[in-house]
Amino acid sequence: MPVVAVIGGQWGDEGKGKIVDVLAEKAQVVMRFSGGNNAGHTVVNDKGEFRLHLVPSGIFHPQTRCLIGNGVVIDPAALLEEMDALGSRGVAVDNLFISPRSHVVMPYHILLDALEEKARGSAAIGTTGKGIGPAFADKVARLGIRTTDLVDKEAFLARLRLILELKNRLIVQMYGGSPLSLEEIYQSYCHYGERLSPHIEDTDVMVQEAVAKGEAILLEGAQGTMLDLDFGTYPYVTSSSPGCVAGGAAGGTGLGPTQIDHVVGVLKAYTTRVGGGPMPTELEDEVGERIRERGKEYGATTGRARRCGWFDAVVAAYSARVNGFTATAITRLDVLDSFPEVKICVAYQVDGAVYRRPPNSLALWYKAQPICETMSGWQTATSHIRRLEDLPPAALAYIKRLEALVGCPVAMVSVGAAREQIIVINHLL
Ligand code: GDP
Ligand code: IMO
Ligand code: MG
Repeated sequence: MPVVAVIGGQWGDEGKGKIVDVLAEKAQVVMRFSGGNNAGHTVVNDKGEFRLHLVPSGIFHPQTRCLIGNGVVIDPAALLEEMDALGSRGVAVDNLFISPRSHVVMPYHILLDALEEKARGSAAIGTTGKGIGPAFADKVARLGIRTTDLVDKEAFLARLRLILELKNRLIVQMYGGSPLSLEEIYQSYCHYGERLSPHIEDTDVMVQEAVAKGEAILLEGAQGTMLDLDFGTYPYVTSSSPGCVAGGAAGGTGLGPTQIDHVVGVLKAYTTRVGGGPMPTELEDEVGERIRERGKEYGATTGRARRCGWFDAVVAAYSARVNGFTATAITRLDVLDSFPEVKICVAYQVDGAVYRRPPNSLALWYKAQPICETMSGWQTATSHIRRLEDLPPAALAYIKRLEALVGCPVAMVSVGAAREQIIVINHLL
C-alpha cells in the first residue's frame, strides 16, 4: 500500500484537512511532518465541524494511528486543549503519538513572536502569533527544547535555566519587555510533560514499521508551498524547518524520499492568502469580496479575513514542479458556482516582460501583474455532484484547463466542506 503526501500548493488553507479526512478512510497511519499550531485544518464529517491545529486530520477514523512527527513544533498547552476538546466531543485520542524529537513551543517564543512583529512595523509578516517562527529559529540555532526533554525533569531544568537567561536578556534589553519566570514555566511544562508522556513514542520507528507492513500512510502537510522558507515568497513565509513542501515530508517523519509513492497537491479553485506579502492575483474589489463572502474565507486559526483572488496557474505549476505532484485535488469549486465568468492567471507582466515562472526577488513579486484567461462561468450549483461527467460543461472545462496548466492529473474535485462532497477520479489509496 502506498505512502501519500498531501501538500498545500498555494498559500495554505487549500483544504488539506478535508482531503486528508477523505483519504484517511483507507489509511492506517496519518502523520503531520511540519509547522505547528499555526495550521488550522477544518474537517466536516458526521461528528460535526472540527478545526485541528496539531492533531492529524485522520483522528476521526478509529483505525488510524495519528502521528505528530519530529518536524512539528508543539505548543503542549494548545495540544492538550485540542485533545481535551476532541475527547469531549466523543473523538478518542488514544491513537495519537508524538515524536520525542519534536520541538516545544515555549512561552518566550510566543512573546518574541509578538515583539518581533511589532518591531517589524509596516513590514510585519502577519504571523499567526503562535510562536512558530521563534521556535523553529531556536531549533536551528540549537537552543530548542524537545518533547523528550520535558520528561527528564532535572535535565529540563538545567536546559531551561540556560536558555531562559538568554531569552530574558533579549526580552528585557532589546525589546524593553518584562522577564519571564523560570519557576512558572518549569512547573507548567513539567505538568504538560506528565500529561503528554503516554503519547510520546518513536514515531519515526512507528512509520517505518508501517511501511514494512505495507500499510497505507498519509503524510499531512501544513501551510503551503508559497509559504515555504526556500520556495515561498520570502520573507513573507513561515519558518518551518523541515519546509512545507514535499521534501519536508521525508525530513519531518524519518522516511526516506524514495519511500513516498505519491504527492497530492491540494489547490483551491481560486487563490487565498492570510497575512502580508505579495499575491499577484489578489482582487481588492467586489469580485474578491464576493469570493470571500461565498467562500466564508476567514482563517481557521486566527479568524482573519483571507485575501482572495483568481486561480494563479503560475504559482500552481511551480508548486507542481518543486513538490513533484503526481496528482492534484481541486477544492472549493462550488464557491465559484455563481460567477458569470472565471479567470485564470497564466503569466505575470513584470516591468514590461512576461514571466511564466515566479520571480525570485520580493520587489519583482510586488510588481507582478497577472495576465489572465477568461472562461465562462457555469452559474449552476455543483455541491450535490459526485461524478466528473455530471459537472456543468463550463465547470468541467475549467477543471480541464487547470489540469493542463498545472501539468498534473486531477484526482479529486471537492464541491463542499463535508466529507461526502467530493468527486473522486483516482482513489490513490
Ligand atoms: P487547510 O488548512 O488546508 O486544511 O484548509 P482550512 O481548513 O484552513 O480551510 C479550508 C476551508 O474550506 C475550510 O473551512 C473547509 O471546511 C472548507 N472546504 C474544504 N473543501 C471545500 C469545498 O470543496 N467547498 C467549500 N465550500 N468549502 C470547502
Ligand atoms: P494551514 O496548515 C495559511 C501564514 C501566516 C503568515 C505567515 C507566517 O492551515 O494551511 P507564522 O505564524 O507561521 O509565523 O506566520 O504564514 N500561515 C498560514 N496561512 N494557512 C496556514 O496553515 C498558515 N500557517 C501560517 O498567516 O502570513
Ligand atoms: Mg488552514
